[in-house]
Amino acid sequence: MKDICSRSLTLKLIFKLIKEKMAAEAADIDVGSRKDHRWSLHGLTALVTGGTKGIGYAVVEELAGLGAIVHTCSRDEEQLNECLSKWKLKGFTVTGSVCNLKSKAEREKLINHVSLLFSGKLNILINNVGTVITKPTEEFTGEDFSHIIGTNLESAYSMCQLAFPLLKASTAGSIVLVSSVAGVVAVDVGTLYSMSKVSER
Ligand SMILES: NC(=O)c1ccc[n+]([C@@H]2O[C@H](COP(=O)([O-])OP(=O)(O)OC[C@H]3O[C@@H](n4cnc5c(N)ncnc54)[C@H](OP(=O)(O)O)[C@@H]3O)[C@@H](O)[C@H]2O)c1
Repeated sequence: MKDICSRSLTLKLIFKLIKEKMAAEAADIDVGSRKDHRWSLHGLTALVTGGTKGIGYAVVEELAGLGAIVHTCSRDEEQLNECLSKWKLKGFTVTGSVCNLKSKAEREKLINHVSLLFSGKLNILINNVGTVITKPTEEFTGEDFSHIIGTNLESAYSMCQLAFPLLKASTAGSIVLVSSVAGVVAVDVGTLYSMSKVSER
């Protein structure tokens, strides 16, 4: 009986040590200084659209933290420069362009710049830029339609087309379209946004 008790105590101690080790390992995984080397994007190139705020900002940090060389864009030059300075301090390799993705000419200029920057090769395209106008369907104007569909859907589609030669040249290209649950179920965010997001699924 004493033997069984001591074996059970030993097992409990071993489980406790394993749990502590796992917790310590999990605590080690921090975006700024990746100590978990199981995942690496070292040397891979990425273009993240709309990386100065929200989800795009987090994606830039995640990819750069994993070793990727990242380029991003937004319309606000001051905010873009602030972000680039923060990332530089963190030791990330991130560059940026001021660009309105709703404009075909600016999308083309962005891809040309990325092509020069990454020697014609792109591994990851994250189509993150998106916008929303919430109002009842009967109140949407033609301008609202162009703004939401142009920003969320047309720009993402066009970016995939423009980036295709670079993704192909990398021989390991991936595209991520940032969709939304609003493209799956009815959410009170406006039908135009939902239409644009269901198309990205
Ligand atoms: N937030 C959510 O709860 C949620 C949920 C599901 C899906 N999403 C999707 O996730 C994506 C990001 O959402 P978010 O909430 O993180 O957005 P956010 O905080 O508004 O950030 C959007 C980013 O895109 C840039 N941007 C917007 N319009 C642009 C344009 N025309 N050209 C270039 N850059 C532009 C913004 O910078 P500037 O304004 O300075 O240009 C900013 O960097 C969107 O596609 C959204 O639909 C969001």
